Amino acid sequence: MLSDSEQHYLLKAVEAFRRRMIVISPDFKLLASNSSPAGMQIGDVIGKHCHEVFYERPSPCLNCAVEEAAATHQPALRTNDDESEDLGKMTCFYAYPIFANGEIEAFVSMEFNLPIQGGIEERLQRTNTMLRKLIESSVDAVIAADRKGNILVFNDAATNITGYSRNEVLETGNIRDLYNDDLAYKVMTDLRSDEHGGPGKLKSYRIDVMSKDGEEIPISLNASIVYAEEREVATIGFFHDLREELKMETELKNTQLELLQSEKMASLGKLSAGVAHQLNNPLGGITLYTNLILEDYELEKDAREDLHRVLRDAERCRDTVKELLEFTRQTRHFMKSNDFNQAITRTLFLLERQPLFHNIAIEKDLSEALPMVTCDLQQMNHVIMNLILNAAQAMDGRGTLRIKTALKDAGERILFEISDTGPGISPDILPRIFEPYFTTKKEGQGTGLGLSLVYRIIENHNGQIQARSTPGEGTTFTIEMPATINISGDGNDD
Ligand SMILES: Nc1ncnc2c1ncn2[C@@H]1O[C@H](COP(=O)(O)OP(=O)(O)OP(=O)(O)O)[C@@H](O)[C@H]1O
Ligand SMILES: [Mg+2]
Repeated sequence: MLSDSEQHYLLKAVEAFRRRMIVISPDFKLLASNSSPAGMQIGDVIGKHCHEVFYERPSPCLNCAVEEAAATHQPALRTNDDESEDLGKMTCFYAYPIFANGEIEAFVSMEFNLPIQGGIEERLQRTNTMLRKLIESSVDAVIAADRKGNILVFNDAATNITGYSRNEVLETGNIRDLYNDDLAYKVMTDLRSDEHGGPGKLKSYRIDVMSKDGEEIPISLNASIVYAEEREVATIGFFHDLREELKMETELKNTQLELLQSEKMASLGKLSAGVAHQLNNPLGGITLYTNLILEDYELEKDAREDLHRVLRDAERCRDTVKELLEFTRQTRHFMKSNDFNQAITRTLFLLERQPLFHNIAIEKDLSEALPMVTCDLQQMNHVIMNLILNAAQAMDGRGTLRIKTALKDAGERILFEISDTGPGISPDILPRIFEPYFTTKKEGQGTGLGLSLVYRIIENHNGQIQARSTPGEGTTFTIEMPATINISGDGNDD
């Protein structure tokens, strides 16, 4: 037993001790402490869990020395050099078990900061390795450069995006190599303005980076200037590759276009089919009653001729209705063998009576040897219709429309060509005509979707479409596609 005086001095010693010294129960509850966190009295913390009071953790710390002492019944030491705020020091936790009748009654735990053995260099080296690993594991390209643009940091993702190896870049590379023309200058200027995420920062900044083989890679860049003692020493950028995202966006947009188009075609089809059906009954009536009059009455010759004329016109109406029904027949999208020439003739039959075509000479050169073509008839009708309409619109209803079909590659492929004598397409807009929404027509007269859909449809049929034009003379659209495409399963829902 300690004397009163010894107990007195021991208590004084604990109070004088500058480090945290606590006594805790085996279930981590504070029994005594020589200190408390800022803003709390010692009395407030007694009875509470030490990990809650000192570390705001709901459960014991991962690296707890007390746990080890509890397991081994021996004093334990754990070190932690990540928690120390002092670069050259590491934090040490000591835990001593206190026994009563051979059982652990409590633990004394103390905390010290000790200088790291091996020196500050070792610690720095470890930190550097850690940082390098972090940069390496980044999914985005991380590229840092000094003020002259010499590249200092270049991770694996940067190699994947740009095609440059780390070595070639670190030896001779300059950040300007990654940018086209004046882009490097623009990026540096914008980095210093406060318009793109604050001065010295760029946030989600859209640029195209030049890869080693000259490909332009779309990037979202987050970058900042690195300062040391208020002096600018470097820039660091995180380059996020947008290719996948943009590809998905385009696919989505194309799917939307197709949906829009098929909806348009479907409602147009339903409308025409409805009108055609409605016309069929009265047409039947006209034919029937005209025939009855011709049979039942003694009529003058002129009257009979007039009635025959009525019959002929009614038959023509019936033919038109039949073609219209055939053209708009509602089918699911599916591929089967179709007579391509017949599809052209049918579309022309419907169009050539329209006022727009009254002053257009139509020259047909349809190959009789054309094989049956595997295609989605409804989509092909749409292709033919769009190209003929574009030509007629370009000629403003006056000129010559030539339509040709031919065999290619010993019958394996077919060629479909449509030419007009319109004003042609100037070379600067020619590359853009297949883009969705590109139109030179006035608002309300064209959506600019026609040719983009034609392009998609031909692409879906493994074919190619090309436009040639001589301004002032006319335009020719040429389609080439395989005559037969192997299709798995038959989607026929006739
Ligand atoms: N035969 C042609 N002659 C001259 N220019 C053409 C011809 N075909 C297409 N173009 C040009 O290509 C553009 C795009 O054609 P596209 O069919 O995609 O859209 P649009 O005809 O303008 O609109 P929509 O097809 O929706 O009515 C047209 O606006 C026109 O400038
Ligand atoms: Mg068009």
